Amino acid sequence: MTSDVTALGDYQFFDLKPARRDMHEEIVAGLREQNKRIAPKYFYNEQGSALFESITELPEYYLTRTEMAVFDRYREDLAVVIGGGTCLVEYGSGSSQKIRKLLETGQPEAYMPVDISKDHLQSNARALHRDFPGLSVYPICVDFTQPFELPEIANGWKRVGFFPGSSIGNFDPADAVIFLTNIARNLGRGAQLIIGVDRKKAADILEAAYDDSQGVTAEFNLNLLKHLNEELGADFVVDEFTHEAIYNEDLGCIQMYLRSRKDQQVNVGTETVEFARNETIHTENSYKYHVEEFQALAEAAGFAVRSIWTDDREWFAVVLLEVQ
Ligand code: AVJ
Repeated sequence: MTSDVTALGDYQFFDLKPARRDMHEEIVAGLREQNKRIAPKYFYNEQGSALFESITELPEYYLTRTEMAVFDRYREDLAVVIGGGTCLVEYGSGSSQKIRKLLETGQPEAYMPVDISKDHLQSNARALHRDFPGLSVYPICVDFTQPFELPEIANGWKRVGFFPGSSIGNFDPADAVIFLTNIARNLGRGAQLIIGVDRKKAADILEAAYDDSQGVTAEFNLNLLKHLNEELGADFVVDEFTHEAIYNEDLGCIQMYLRSRKDQQVNVGTETVEFARNETIHTENSYKYHVEEFQALAEAAGFAVRSIWTDDREWFAVVLLEVQ
């Protein structure tokens, strides 16, 4: 008699999510600066994560589709990297589409998604645990932009990090070096990191990707204010702000802003913040790199470049790094 009952892998949830009070302090401090700003990690409440998934399907947003094509093109090389005995650690487990492709390509034994958006993280992790019999799944809810340690359960495997989507672009280059240095320490010597990097290209292509004709990116950017209203009891009137995305050629990055339509006051919990008409909140940088620039940055963080994979148009690079 054959049995089709397949053993489920292990499942354990690690909650290191920062307290709401930390979020309040960080948001208010950013809104008190000369040039108001909010970190892009606050885009990702449940709605924000869903809006980002819609962005990845937009005709103008070439990033996700191009990166997926690179994964397909180099699937044999990837299969070697993510062979048996691997614990795959994904930083920012945004869209489960990419990880599903990698899990199908390679044969990792454990998957450790690391994300700040708790509900989204849990539901994605549970679905993967269900759909990949035998795979152990260990979600970690944490702000991975700050140094943290992997739980001991990650010991004993060959560790491979996964940081797709050009999320590295959210850090300015100096912070990217610090972040990658932390990741190198986090993964340990000899570990590998598969990282997606959006390459420099014409400004009109980049700007369309961050200001699409259907207004989904605008909604994503504005949803940040809704998140603050829900999480911190702020009273932003979302319609009183507009979305902006411009390519800063000198810095090599797309910059997103929310611009106040009028003079207004906003309460954020116990604090009041003043906005002048046309004043902006900077919400995101998305740096674009020449391959050589990125290589230098990775090396400064203690990695060696093992492979550079790209698409036909050379718009996006998937880089395989190894901790030295
Ligand atoms: C998830 C950070 C890679 O910068 O392209 C998409 C987020 N912002 N559209 C990016 C984003 C606006 C995205 N990352």
